[in-house]
Amino acid sequence: MFDFEIQARSGRARTATFSTPHGTVQTPMFMPVGTQGTVKGITPAELLDVGSQMILGNTYHLMLRPGPDMVAAHGGLPGFTAYPGPFLTDSGGFQVMSLGHMRKITEQGVTFKSHVDGSAVQLTPERSIAVQEALGADIIMAFDECPPFPATREYVKASQERTIRWLERCLNAKTRDDQALFAIVQGSVYEDLREQSVQETLPFNTPGFAIGGLAVGESKEEMYPMVAFTAARLPEGKPRYLMGVGHPEDLVAAIALGVDMFDCVYPTRTGRFGYALTDDGRLNLNSSGPRQQLIPIDPECDCYACRNYTRAYLAHLTRAEEMLSPRMLSLHNIRYLHRLVERARAAIASDTYQSWATTWAERYFKGRI
Ligand code: GUN
Ligand code: ZN
Repeated sequence: MFDFEIQARSGRARTATFSTPHGTVQTPMFMPVGTQGTVKGITPAELLDVGSQMILGNTYHLMLRPGPDMVAAHGGLPGFTAYPGPFLTDSGGFQVMSLGHMRKITEQGVTFKSHVDGSAVQLTPERSIAVQEALGADIIMAFDECPPFPATREYVKASQERTIRWLERCLNAKTRDDQALFAIVQGSVYEDLREQSVQETLPFNTPGFAIGGLAVGESKEEMYPMVAFTAARLPEGKPRYLMGVGHPEDLVAAIALGVDMFDCVYPTRTGRFGYALTDDGRLNLNSSGPRQQLIPIDPECDCYACRNYTRAYLAHLTRAEEMLSPRMLSLHNIRYLHRLVERARAAIASDTYQSWATTWAERYFKGRI
């Protein structure tokens, strides 16, 4: 269980299989986000149809509502959500910082006011692991602190050192052996602190490593070198997960740097706002052009929306604020990112990743439609 087998490499990019109790996945992989135990508007059957391999769930949200016991009463996330495949849950460290009110961080953990009912809640490494065990995902994440951007060097250093101590507490609190706990490297945009975080995280020898603390407001010129630096220092034989990323160009760039796993709300969120991802850039269904176009969003896409509907019809649904629009655009956008990583895997397998990526980027950035 949790074997990571590399099948092929192209430069630093690699394609591999990772086995979990609910199935074997192929990397590089994109995980749709199902924060509240649902990928917004999309059924499990539709997720399987567009090629989803693993769904992300959130400790923070599900702990507050409906509570871990209710999810456990369904046998965990697969029973609760009716999605039969593997799940990954984030630990809550990141969401407490972005959603909780009146946060207070101490060595013990984080106390905050619930965004659901205003009650005082404490989240500690031990509590995060207990909740993640009740949720029952195949991959669970260490309880960490993701510092805001920008943050001072002093703050980031103290915070990441505490994150290492929390990692040790997470591992001690863990009781199930059918869940893989991934450690999270922090360090913001400070190279020496990234180095320190990697060196202090590696000895815990977890079955996978995440790169955290990025895509929080820094520029891509700041983010990509940190991904390169960190990924190069993580073990070859374990999956590398870049948290909260991202946009199509970020996936293409980070795969070249040796990243294997991604998650982001981008495809579903941008779909709800009326945007569709294509190889020619992002299509705005609220703009006037698509209203007259009797072609699919993306003629190369095999999703339900592209097989059945014209841009004109979807633009009409979007303007009329019909709920099929966000559903179909989310479905298409998830399929787009799955097809993107499928094409990346094929390019790695034929050792042509760099030329494939260059060709993809030329078209994506030239063709703004
Ligand atoms: N999601 C995006 N970034 C992060 C991070 O740094 N930590 C956690 N736990 N989740 C994230
Ligand atoms: Zn499509």
